[in-house]
Amino acid sequence: MFKSQLKTLSVIVLSSLIISQSYSADDSKKLDVSESAFKCLSALAASGRFFVDNILGNLDATLAVANSSSGGNYPPGSLLTLVPDEAMIKHQQDWNPATNDWEFFLLDLSAEGASILARGGAEVASPSGSCFGCHQLARSEWDLVCGVDHGCAPIPFTLEQIRGAQAMDPRCTNEN
Ligand code: HEC
Repeated sequence: MFKSQLKTLSVIVLSSLIISQSYSADDSKKLDVSESAFKCLSALAASGRFFVDNILGNLDATLAVANSSSGGNYPPGSLLTLVPDEAMIKHQQDWNPATNDWEFFLLDLSAEGASILARGGAEVASPSGSCFGCHQLARSEWDLVCGVDHGCAPIPFTLEQIRGAQAMDPRCTNEN
């Protein structure tokens, strides 16, 4: 009896693993993201240690989740950034359930604006590793947002270093 239950369980676990591995993003749920979406940080709204925007114009809904003390699901169009050359954007629901519909971006910045060096899911990495690799560890109510105590792998930077990087956004010298 116990043995057969165990067998059923392993079949379920195995098949759900295969389903999640073979899942590919649904492009009809993908928002258009142009490089001009990545603005100078001082043009964004601050929320604690990071900055937010909403590329669909729904900033109030994004801020409500970012400022919530109990977490929540970010609305489509949400753009979050901690250091100027890294950002995550929320696509429409079910674009890619594996990443809660977040796409990760690594940017190259200059006074002229941002160009996208890398974008996507788990394959996008900063010098300290896969964005998703760390962010997926956030407890589910936080929707992959790490904050300081949501369960993510830590980054080796102090708040002063983060504030320093934020203050040196090369885009902010121009009218971006
Ligand atoms: C080594 C683990 C790690 C890696 C790799 C990583 N992050 Fe993070 N990220 C964190 C942690 C921890 C925080 C919170 C830091 C803080 O507030 O001091 C954070 C903060 C952020 C924030 C602000 C919102 C939040 O989750 O608190 C954004 C946006 C972000 N990271 C995007 C990215 C992107 C995009 C990449 C890849 C290009 C990336 N991160 C790579 C761990 C990581």
